[in-house]
Amino acid sequence: MRQLLYGFAGLFILLTGLISCQSDEEIKRQKYITEGILIYQNQCANCHQAKGQGLAALYPPIAGSDYLKHKDSVICLIRYGMQGPVVVNGKTYNRVMPAQPQLSDLEVAELTTYIYNEWGNETTLTSAKTVGPLLEKCRPKQ
Ligand code: HEC
Repeated sequence: MRQLLYGFAGLFILLTGLISCQSDEEIKRQKYITEGILIYQNQCANCHQAKGQGLAALYPPIAGSDYLKHKDSVICLIRYGMQGPVVVNGKTYNRVMPAQPQLSDLEVAELTTYIYNEWGNETTLTSAKTVGPLLEKCRPKQ
C-alpha cells in the first residue's frame, strides 16, 4: 500500500514537472507572438498590410503565401531584404523589399514566430538561438 502511495506521489511530481515545463515554453511563445505583432505592425504592415494580405501587384501576401515553405529564406529576407522576381501563389512580383539591418536576432525570431504561428500552421516558437547562426550564414558579403 505504501509503495503504491509512493508510486502515485512520484507520478504526480513527474506530471506537474512536465506541465509546468510545457507552460514555460508556452508563455515564451505567447511573448514572442505579442512582440512579433508589434514589430510587424511597425516594420512590415505598411507594405504587406495589417492582415498580411499584401497589396495588389506591388506587395506579395504573407498570409497563405506558398513562399513560407522556404523558411530559411524568409528568416534571411526579414533582415537583409529581397529583390528580383519572386512567384507567390502563382503571381510574379518584382520589386525591392528593403533590408532592415536594425532588427536584432531576437526581433527576427519574434517576427518569424508570429508569421509562422499566424499564417504558417506552426504552433511552436522559432528561437533567437535558431535564427542567429542562419542570419550569420546568409549575411550579404561586403
Ligand atoms: C517597402 C515595402 C516592404 C516592407 C516594409 C516589407 N516588405 Fe516584405 N516584401 C516586399 C516586396 C516588394 C517583396 C517581394 C520582393 C521581390 O519582388 O523580390 C517582399 C517579400 C516578402 C516575403 C516573401 C514573399 C511572400 O510574400 O511570402 C516575405 C515573407 C516578407 N516580404 C516579409 C516581410 C516582413 C516580415 C517584413 C517586416 C520586417 C517586410 N516583409 C517588410 C515589400 C516590403
